[in-house]
Amino acid sequence: MKNIAIVSALMIASAPTVWASVLSTDAERQRMDAFISDLMERMTLDEKIGQLNLLPSEDIVTGNAIKSNIGAAVAAGSAGGTFNIKGASKIRELQRIAVEKSRLGIPLLIGMDVIHGYETIFPIPLGLSCTWDLPGIEESARIAASEMSAGGICWTFSPMVDICRDPRWGRMAEGSGEDPWLGSRIAEAMVRGYQGENFTRPDNVMACVKHFALYGASEAGRDYNTVDMSRGRMYNVYFPPYRAAVEAGAGSVMSSFNLVDGVPATENRWLLDDVLRRQWNFDGFVVTDYGSIGQVAVHGLEDLPEASVRALKAGTDMDMCSFGFIGTLKSSLEKGEVSMVDIDRAVRRILEAKWKLGLFENPYKYNDVAREATDIYTEANRAAARRLAAESMVLLRNEGNLLPLAKKGTVALIGPLANSAANMPGTWSVAADRSKYKSLLQGFQDALRGKAKVVWAKGSNIYEDPALEAAVGVFGHDMRDPRSEKELLDEALRVAADADVIVAALGEAAESSGESASKTDLSLPATQRRLLEALLATGKPVVMLNFAGRPTVLEWESRNVPAILNVWFPGSEGADAVADVVFGDVNPSGRLTASMPWSVGQIPVYYSYFNTGNPKNEADPSFQKFKSNFIDAPNQPLYPFGYGLSYTDFSYGDVALSGDTLGDGGKVTASVKVTNTGSRAGTETVQFYIRDLRGSVARPVKELRHFERVSLQPGESRTVEYRISPDDLMFYDYDLRHVAEPGDFEVMAGPDSQRTSSAKFTLRK
Ligand code: NOJ
Repeated sequence: MKNIAIVSALMIASAPTVWASVLSTDAERQRMDAFISDLMERMTLDEKIGQLNLLPSEDIVTGNAIKSNIGAAVAAGSAGGTFNIKGASKIRELQRIAVEKSRLGIPLLIGMDVIHGYETIFPIPLGLSCTWDLPGIEESARIAASEMSAGGICWTFSPMVDICRDPRWGRMAEGSGEDPWLGSRIAEAMVRGYQGENFTRPDNVMACVKHFALYGASEAGRDYNTVDMSRGRMYNVYFPPYRAAVEAGAGSVMSSFNLVDGVPATENRWLLDDVLRRQWNFDGFVVTDYGSIGQVAVHGLEDLPEASVRALKAGTDMDMCSFGFIGTLKSSLEKGEVSMVDIDRAVRRILEAKWKLGLFENPYKYNDVAREATDIYTEANRAAARRLAAESMVLLRNEGNLLPLAKKGTVALIGPLANSAANMPGTWSVAADRSKYKSLLQGFQDALRGKAKVVWAKGSNIYEDPALEAAVGVFGHDMRDPRSEKELLDEALRVAADADVIVAALGEAAESSGESASKTDLSLPATQRRLLEALLATGKPVVMLNFAGRPTVLEWESRNVPAILNVWFPGSEGADAVADVVFGDVNPSGRLTASMPWSVGQIPVYYSYFNTGNPKNEADPSFQKFKSNFIDAPNQPLYPFGYGLSYTDFSYGDVALSGDTLGDGGKVTASVKVTNTGSRAGTETVQFYIRDLRGSVARPVKELRHFERVSLQPGESRTVEYRISPDDLMFYDYDLRHVAEPGDFEVMAGPDSQRTSSAKFTLRK
């Protein structure tokens, strides 16, 4: 085993959270503590337990439709908050009941799943992550905060930072892909965007990092399924983005549905207390996910009263919709199973959140009905969403530079996603006003007005089987076309006959991904494939737009379709953004943040794998007996992490180092020269990866540690530098010590995780 150069013991408190700035002085904290102590002295036990209860609103959007007589519960002091209600005046009325009708007038926390925007909807988070545009992602969260706060919401159930390497899991749409380092940077950016510096402004809201923890590793990608993993993988891969969000100051954390080491996260003391509070120094509050205390018994553990006791003692402060705290804690206290200290600790944390948000000072701070009329879905917000949507799209293939299309002649827009405004925002668009958004067809018509003609046909349903189609329909929007496959296809071919080029809008429907949307088949549904084959058989140039909430399998398409643009679910302004890219007003710059598999059987497939003891020689594509490979599939994904094309070309020089020794006075800067060798301006994402060549435990073949987005004019070159810090070489070892081990390392630079050049350096003690 090597010497340990740098150790940061887990038990040492981590970086100060944003509360240091919210409570900028000790005097401020004392003022808060005194206020809350005084309030708590006046609270009855019922009122205290009431604060720990997060009620479902009557506008239920997820989970079981538990109906609560919410107004009466609020007046009785039986709720600490509620969520997913839309409308500032509705919320103001609820807040008024809390303030005027409940005995102590404690204001409510009002939450919402604002995952990628409120009414101005940004691309789904997975798409947004493919921008690699951290300031842009922060701006999207800032805009979401501004709009939701104008709508009466002070608490968002975002960022969702679950690492996922299994695209069968539909909730991959909600996160930032497979990489812990990039996921951490995005998590920080989102927390900063939502919360700002502090909560003095009425348009900063509290973030809720979720789902703590490991939810993205559900076995087989089946939602809510078992998770079981090594501590090494937890600390090195799955934990970092949660920790980054906590250290960026996130005010709350949502626990996950899954088991962690056999114990549901929601009552897992090691997770919620040792890791979150002691190792990471989290001082906000923990809310459960929907009904998860109630689910403990279904996992085969305790019934609701015992589960509530265990959850509270583990560090859960607020119960979302299990009615376990409100229904059972009082009698558990009488029986001596919980103490008043346990209850008070949680109550204090909830009241602190309300105090920090400024709700005691002004309960209507987030209920400015005038702002609701002026600050939501503004031109400026929409422009940002359009820009980020265009940035999120990943050009996978562009044979013969088919794209961008000229704005002339006749364009046939064909496919089940061609004229469906309802599908554009994607999953978890709780506050979306779909009546305001354009379909792709409208976007194309606007882009081509006076220049070219657009014709369109639906071509096929999403699925041939109506039952499958019903499972993925946008809530309340039936997209099923009753015509037969043949009728739809014939119409499409008739329409396409007059066109110069065909744009096929295919793929998933919005609710094919998101919660409870796991799939075992990630290829294009057969009815859409048949449509695509027929369109290709016309001999006309075909561009495929792939709508997707996850990496899908495009193996056949990549061999047969000349141009493929992955558009994810691009959001409220997605129609204009797709037109911007297809017709060349914007040069695509999105880069994959999750590997796109060659086949479902490869899953999990990700770039940061371990080498194995019998690695395949990847230079030779054939099957290699007694090597780690498949008989019937390559090891590598179809499109790797970091990949994406542009309408221009970039060439890379070899990576160069300023020195070969780091530490002990040595510094190393890696640099690589990038040139735009094409004829258009474009933005390239220059990526740097590190490999620890020998570790005390196995280390991945590469790990992203730095990147820079550079915009280059045709012919322009830039040397991009990465100053390597010893911190970048750290990992959690066998004993979970955070270490950088002296020895040899490799740094790699390139346009994606596969096409890199490398150089070696040594870390000294
Ligand atoms: C269940 C989901 O897992 C979670 O992400 C969401 O925030 C809650 N429901 C509330 O809607």
